[in-house]
Amino acid sequence: MSELDKFKRFTITSALPYANGPLHIGHLAGAYIPADTFVRHLRLKKKDVAFICGSDEHGAAITIKAKKEGTTPQEIIDKYHYQIKKSFEDFGIAFNIYHRTSAPIHHDLSQEFFLNLYEKGEFVEKETEQYYDEEYDQFLADRYITGTCPNCKSEGAYGDQCEKCGTSLNPTDLINPVSTLSGKAPVLKVTKHWYLPLDKYQPWLEQWLLEDKKNKWKPNVYGQCSSWLKSGLQPRSMTRDLDWGIDVPLEEAKGKKLYVWMDAPIGYISATKQWALDNGKDWDLYWKKQQSEEDNSCLIHFIGKDNIVFHCITFPSILHAHGEYILPYNVPANEFLNLEGDKLSTSRNHAVWLHEYLEEFPGKQDELRYVLTSILPETSDSEFTWKDYQARVNNELVAILGNFVNRVMILMHKYYQGEVGESAGKLADQEIKSQLENTYNDVETAIENFKFRQALSIVMDLARFGNKYLTDKEPWKTFKTDAEATREVLQNCLHIIGHLGTLMQPFLPTASKKIFGMLNFNKEVLSYDEEITFTAGHKLNAPELLFEKVEDEVIDRQLEKLKAKATAAAPAQVEVAPAKENINYEQFLAMDIRVGTILEAEKVAKTKKLLKLKIDTGIDQRTVVSGIAEFFEPEAIIGQQVSMLVNLEPREIKGIISQGMILMAEDADGKLSFVSPTSQTGNGSVVR
Ligand code: MF3
Ligand code: ZN
Repeated sequence: MSELDKFKRFTITSALPYANGPLHIGHLAGAYIPADTFVRHLRLKKKDVAFICGSDEHGAAITIKAKKEGTTPQEIIDKYHYQIKKSFEDFGIAFNIYHRTSAPIHHDLSQEFFLNLYEKGEFVEKETEQYYDEEYDQFLADRYITGTCPNCKSEGAYGDQCEKCGTSLNPTDLINPVSTLSGKAPVLKVTKHWYLPLDKYQPWLEQWLLEDKKNKWKPNVYGQCSSWLKSGLQPRSMTRDLDWGIDVPLEEAKGKKLYVWMDAPIGYISATKQWALDNGKDWDLYWKKQQSEEDNSCLIHFIGKDNIVFHCITFPSILHAHGEYILPYNVPANEFLNLEGDKLSTSRNHAVWLHEYLEEFPGKQDELRYVLTSILPETSDSEFTWKDYQARVNNELVAILGNFVNRVMILMHKYYQGEVGESAGKLADQEIKSQLENTYNDVETAIENFKFRQALSIVMDLARFGNKYLTDKEPWKTFKTDAEATREVLQNCLHIIGHLGTLMQPFLPTASKKIFGMLNFNKEVLSYDEEITFTAGHKLNAPELLFEKVEDEVIDRQLEKLKAKATAAAPAQVEVAPAKENINYEQFLAMDIRVGTILEAEKVAKTKKLLKLKIDTGIDQRTVVSGIAEFFEPEAIIGQQVSMLVNLEPREIKGIISQGMILMAEDADGKLSFVSPTSQTGNGSVVR
């Protein structure tokens, strides 16, 4: 019996991503793939699970992005919330709900929490001097201010946290603080805020966390927490002088908002409430302490390491101060994933974006799940490279798992027309039976200890075992001399394949379904306790390849794309002035307009106006989405020279990142024509 079996109910959360940009593989490896695998595992054990996530739509991450793009926070969150939600769906993360913190139900619950603590007298009210940007007339909280971390001395620490060492900070702790708005040193100004007295909770945290979680939580998580507790906790302000967020529900706090890290984790609860409302469930069961402790839900937060302090110290303190809520059973945070020898970076566009992967590798969700699970940064930072992706798909998924299943299926069809015989029923072979039993036990233990890499490699060992068994038995030789014994060998393999299908489900849900389909089980999902049996005469379906080999070209293209992105990202920082106001000469020079050639053109599905173009800009080859489809047939414009604004910030249009803009002349009737050189001109030639 495993430790988790004492729980009937599970509340599993994945960090709410900020709705300020698309998802990339670093997000997946940090908080989403491990949580999804864990949840699928629990569901196969027939546990009652609520798997909760949503968009984090407040805080400086959103307002700063809006300012940068010259738009409103509302537009930013709407754009990215729906994009992120769709990417999760298309990738197959099996949330019960993907909610959002801009929802009224969330604002209400967050205010309720604040008032609950306020009325208990938990908050310490303080008037202090805070940094202020005089040019922008704004207090500088959180990401609006950066400076040197007083703890690890690295530069670029934020006003609320150093992402290098994880320490949580107050803006006044920063060395050499600078406003990210004006770039200038800020001044100090008095303002009032409400502080969560973490110092007061310190003795309780020492018991609940340092004592009770010792040797239970992952060392990387426990270690960070104990080092903060050792250096002594300080009160943390739960309110902000900002104009985007949830109103502080106090008359005297007019205009102030809740700190984003006060409201965001409450988003787990409000999302659960919404899910319960939609599905006739009782949300209390998943969050509140029940009459007897055995009835409490098991709460687990999957997060990346930069979120540890908020999930292990701040949020539990809030829940504890409230009093009615359960506390996290575990917080299995992962470290960071790097990409091709460098940190993943949204601002430098150094990332593998999930929506792009889904578009460029249709139907290959399992391949990405497999590779990322194999390299999860469970104990230390790890690295994704495209060569490694290729090697793991080709040498493991194709050569081991796919190959085993395929060989058995082909032989069954070749020798026995895909029909199982009398002896198929239950598995009799003792060696195989004990191998299976060990595999189930070891996988369960590994998953429940959050060792997903290990769990996956144990499942793959079963495929290796199957391959070896098949090779040792040589059915292609024995068939001629003893057809019945040969059939038994292959049928033993079918049992192994059935169990591989079952065990693979948390990791490779699509491939598992394919396996069940080939075996002609009329089920898409098999729980762990379901028996694998075959009745005599059972017909197998035709073999189907589980995985395809990844060719070199595919990898080379991705590597080139990464390089091109890095160069395209740099000029994209330049901000283009509003078109209708006068601009000066320097501003004109900031626009990088070049001659390019259209290499490829195709209609964007489900749109009337859009063409997706591939342009040779002389600098690189890139994709541009252009609203010219009503005037030009795609085939007709291949080879057309165009003028193009190449340093326009990349934009997402219908799921495609458009990198630049084709200049078109529009006449009074709205007819479009290309603005192109009158004679053939080299790609990359500058227009000015
Ligand atoms: N948005 C935060 C981040 O991306 C994570 C929030 S997790 C929360 O770092 F649930 F607590 F909101
Ligand atoms: Zn630091």
